[in-house]
Amino acid sequence: MSTISDTYEQYVLPTYGRFSLVPQKGEGSYLWDAEGKKYLDFCTGIAVCSLGHCHPALTKAIQTQAAELIHCSNLYQIPQQAELAKQITKHVGIAGKVFFANSGAEANDGMIKTARRFGHHTPTENGEENGEARHEIITFQQSFHGRTLGGIAATGQEGIKEGFAPLIPGFTHVDYNDLAATEAAITPQTVAIMLEVIQGEGGIHAASPEFLKGIKELCETHNLLLMIDEIQTGFGRTGDMMAWRSILPELEPDVISWAKGMGGGFPIGAFWVNDRELSSGQTLSSLMGPKSHGSTYGGNPLACSAAIAVLDTIEKENLSQNAKTQGAVIRQSILSWQSPWISEVRGMGLMLGIGLNAETFSNKTSLPEGMTPALHLVIQLMERGLLTVPAGTHTVRWLPPLNVSESEVKEALGILKGTLEELTC
Ligand SMILES: Cc1ncc(COP(=O)(O)O)c(C=O)c1O
Repeated sequence: MSTISDTYEQYVLPTYGRFSLVPQKGEGSYLWDAEGKKYLDFCTGIAVCSLGHCHPALTKAIQTQAAELIHCSNLYQIPQQAELAKQITKHVGIAGKVFFANSGAEANDGMIKTARRFGHHTPTENGEENGEARHEIITFQQSFHGRTLGGIAATGQEGIKEGFAPLIPGFTHVDYNDLAATEAAITPQTVAIMLEVIQGEGGIHAASPEFLKGIKELCETHNLLLMIDEIQTGFGRTGDMMAWRSILPELEPDVISWAKGMGGGFPIGAFWVNDRELSSGQTLSSLMGPKSHGSTYGGNPLACSAAIAVLDTIEKENLSQNAKTQGAVIRQSILSWQSPWISEVRGMGLMLGIGLNAETFSNKTSLPEGMTPALHLVIQLMERGLLTVPAGTHTVRWLPPLNVSESEVKEALGILKGTLEELTC
């Protein structure tokens, strides 16, 4: 009899290294596999299931909308889309307009296209007529912006670009949190700076308030767009609806992208463009006018109903605050153990990176070829019923649902502590 793995091997492109786990059912913070084993899910589809699994409000919104109207064209008015755009803009707190996509990479492509449009609208830094369109975008080392051609060009990790040259030109990558290097990278062709305020896939590294402030000033001085990728950080995960507000509340971005947690598991992405007036008298958002962009599925009634239910629940149940509270419990508990295996805990709210001590791992373990400390610990935790995600070689990410309870957090901490105590191989 052929197994699921056999079918995978024969029919699915092997782009992912997959664990043998077969998730079958989810409820709240828990997931059950096909054999009935129960897991505490602190992976949440990599920061996607922000309300946990099958939250009644999300399930009901999807069921009700699916029974009424799943899809219609963007040639028509979609009330759920208009309402969601209004809610998102309320959470941003600045006048602007939203475009809906189906994933994070797509949302970022739209954000990059907005920068290109801006470059054509303001040909050179000093606004000379008939100048060459500015098109260069500064992004950061270790950043991650998705897997489309735009996304991989923007991403500051070489591995994901391998074999895909020639890449879309015009991206410069500089060291994160290095303001001087960022300033030095600006040329007359630069049109935007794009960043995650906490790098997720890059290992949970947060921007400092001084860095964000400096970036904003550089954008103002050189007439650049400030573009924030909130795809992993957004909508409550860091303890605020907007992650940048957890770091520098007064920041005013020009473009923002989201996906992951905003649909709670239903695929949806979006980018928002500031309504601010440009020196031409046009607004920034008006540059993405008729025919500039589109998506067959983006913003359909079903996806928007799901996202409205997620955002409503985050707000009503004050889940940003819960992310802050439970995140602090996790951080303080782990640090209080003073474990030789752990070097630090990074991140904010419920977007946490447990940094592993490279020296302890190399002295006390002999890991098989190709097995990183982070992957080893993730596997050990999984065997004991806790799902987590590696980020790089020495960081284990904890991305629990935003409504995780204190007792679930304690359960996860117990599993981690016990695992660390037994960790030698
Ligand atoms: C910061 C960031 N941007 C973009 C993406 C790409 O999103 P998607 O996988 O939905 O295309 C991700 C996914 O991990 C991400 O973390």
